[in-house]
Amino acid sequence: MIDKATDSEIKICCATFYQSDVVRLLFGDVLHPGTLELTSHLGQIIGLTETDRVLDVACGRGASAVHLAERFGCHVTGLDYGPESVAGAEEHAAARGVAHLTTFRTGDAEELPLDNGTFDAVISECSFCTFPDKTTVARVLRPGGRLGLTDMTVSGDLPDDIQSLLSWVACVTGAGTPEHYVATLEQAGFTSFTIENHGAALMQMVNDVRRRFLAVELAAGLGKLNLGDLDLSEGKRLALRAVELIEKGVWGYTLIAARKE
Ligand SMILES: C[S@@+](CC[C@H](N)C(=O)[O-])C[C@H]1O[C@@H](n2cnc3c(N)ncnc32)[C@H](O)[C@@H]1O
Repeated sequence: MIDKATDSEIKICCATFYQSDVVRLLFGDVLHPGTLELTSHLGQIIGLTETDRVLDVACGRGASAVHLAERFGCHVTGLDYGPESVAGAEEHAAARGVAHLTTFRTGDAEELPLDNGTFDAVISECSFCTFPDKTTVARVLRPGGRLGLTDMTVSGDLPDDIQSLLSWVACVTGAGTPEHYVATLEQAGFTSFTIENHGAALMQMVNDVRRRFLAVELAAGLGKLNLGDLDLSEGKRLALRAVELIEKGVWGYTLIAARKE
C-alpha cells in the first residue's frame, strides 16, 4: 500500500520530469506511443463529435487536446499536474487557433476540480497507470459518457528491473494487465469495453527515443542542456531492455474504451 506522501512525491516527480527540456528532446511534445495518429483513432473509437465536451486527464503540453479540437471540433478541457505543461498547452492552443475550443487547468487527476457529470467523454493517454486511484474519472462523466484510454500495460512474470524501467520512462508504479484495468473500470461503473493492442506503437516510440539519445548527449556535452540528476547511461541501458520486454510481450501499450452506465 502506497501512503499519501509517496503518492504526492510520485506526481511531483512525474510532472517535473515531463516538463523538462531533456524529455522534450527525447520524446518531442507528444508524450505517448502512437503519436497523434493513435489519438485520432481513440477519438474515432469513442465517437467524438463537435457537440462533445471532452476532458483530457494528464494532458501534458496539450498536443492531444489541441489535435482533438482541430480534428473533431469538440471542446476539450485539458488538466495536468504540471503548471509549466499547462502554460505550454495554452500557448500551443493559441498558436494553432483553437483557444476558443480548449480550456487548460492545473489539477490532480485524483481530486478532479470539476463538477459531477460535466463531460460527454474523458480521455487519458499514457498516464492512467500513474494514478493510484483509477476510478475518479467516472464521477465527472455524464451517464452514458465515453472513456478512452491508451496506456502502458504489463503481462506475465515481471523481471526484477521492469519497475525501474517503467519508473524511468513513465513514472509508472501501477501499470497492470489490460484485464486488471478492465476489472477496475467495471467496478467503477463502466461497461461495453473495446480493447486493442498497440505494442508496435510502443516499440516505435522506444526506438525513436534510442535514436535521440545522441542529440541529448551532444547538447549536454556542449553545455546547452542541463541533465539534472538524470543518468543517461542507465537510460540507454533501460531503453535496450525495453525493446526486449516489448518483443517478449511483457510490456505493452493498450487502448481501452468503455461507456459509463
Ligand atoms: C507520459 S505524460 C503524458 C502526457 C499527455 N497525455 C500526452 O500523451 O502527451 C504523463 C503526464 O501525466 C501528468 N500527471 C501525472 N500524474 C498526474 C496527476 N495525478 N494528475 C494530473 N496529471 C498527472 C504529468 O504531469 C505528465 O504531463
